[in-house]
Amino acid sequence: MKYSQKALALVALAAQTDAALRFGCSTVTIQRLDPVVEPGNSPSAHLHQVVGGNAFAPEMKGDIGQQGTCTSCVFSEDFSNYWTAVLFFKHENGTYKRVPIMANDALPAGIQGGMTIYYTQQDFSSNGKQFIRAFPPGFRMTVGSPTAGKDGMTKHKGLRFTCLDNKSTRFPEIDDFPKKPCKGGIMTEHHFPACWNGKDLDSPDHQSHMYDTQPTGFGAGAACPASHPVRMPQLAYETLWDTTQFNNMWPKDGSNPFVFSFGNQSGHAYGTHADYMFGWKGDSLQRAMNSSCMFNACENGRPLLSQSVAQMNACKAKEVVKENTDGWLKELPGKSVFA
Ligand SMILES: *[C@@H]1O[C@H](CO)[C@@H](O)[C@H](O)[C@H]1NC(C)=O
Ligand SMILES: *[C@@H]1O[C@H](CO)[C@@H](O)[C@H](O)[C@H]1NC(C)=O
Ligand SMILES: *[C@@H]1O[C@H](CO)[C@@H](O)[C@H](O)[C@H]1NC(C)=O
Ligand SMILES: *[C@@H]1O[C@H](CO)[C@@H](O)[C@H](O)[C@H]1NC(C)=O
Repeated sequence: MKYSQKALALVALAAQTDAALRFGCSTVTIQRLDPVVEPGNSPSAHLHQVVGGNAFAPEMKGDIGQQGTCTSCVFSEDFSNYWTAVLFFKHENGTYKRVPIMANDALPAGIQGGMTIYYTQQDFSSNGKQFIRAFPPGFRMTVGSPTAGKDGMTKHKGLRFTCLDNKSTRFPEIDDFPKKPCKGGIMTEHHFPACWNGKDLDSPDHQSHMYDTQPTGFGAGAACPASHPVRMPQLAYETLWDTTQFNNMWPKDGSNPFVFSFGNQSGHAYGTHADYMFGWKGDSLQRAMNSSCMFNACENGRPLLSQSVAQMNACKAKEVVKENTDGWLKELPGKSVFA
């Protein structure tokens, strides 16, 4: 198997002692729904790509691990939902086209769209001799905000972008859209905070029950503060946007043509954000975090149950909001934050 460049470097430095999960999930739906930030709204304000369990719906309550019948993720006990805004290309002629999503080449071939999901410990190879507690049923959180300015990038060092030469490119990580066409597409990275206040499954802003101590991206998290003393897995998403069909349509004035679905047309990507709804069945995530497996060595019951790419791709959430999101569109789907 292929590890990411950074994982390889880390594994070379220290023998793996504590589990790290990295796995693919195909797209379970692309829809205007957001059960964390806008529960019950159908449609929600902007379009998302969602992966994970097929119980995804306008409103979600209780233990998501007990809901739905399938998941689009490799690990078949993981009915969690993971989502981000989607990317559009804005043509000089004023129309928009949704950027297709492709799978990371470190994952099994054939995964349709989706994201790469990571649950690491203090870093890739060690828990730093601390107990890493799995998220409890009903847990949810977000990172980033669609209305953030540049300060959003200072606050959240785990929200980054990579201009890809190919699907294996991992560096450099930058804090805005690339300023020129990228040969192999654009990767968006969303790292969540890992320190929990130990009490709340959610909070009014969906963020203050968590605290971030990561220096950057996949770096080792510093100690959790007394206000948020419980260390949880470091959750991260990577999404690969296949922008190559637009490389010959770059605007003549050199301005940035990419726009996230929430509609900020400043040419900056500072409003990048992601949502998480925990839904692993029973104690499966804790079992994995307690073990010492790495990446796909955690499959086939060692210790996690897994499924084939065909089974992942076959899992879809119900289409509640019916609207066209493909082809050249006159407007972005929904009312953007500017409406
Ligand atoms: C805008 O440009 C795209 C790409 O060339 C083209 O397919 C589309 O028809 C154009 N739309 C308008 C309204 O000119
Ligand atoms: C849009 O993005 C710009 C640049 O980051 C930022 O200054 C502005 O506040 C954003 N607008 C909204 C409404 O979020
Ligand atoms: C992919 O791009 C990286 C640089 O971003 C380079 O180091 C690597 O050799 C390339 N891999 C392939 C297979 O071309
Ligand atoms: C995980 O490890 C903790 C601490 O050693 C233990 O209390 C717990 O029972 C373990 N859980 C699982 C599911 O293995």
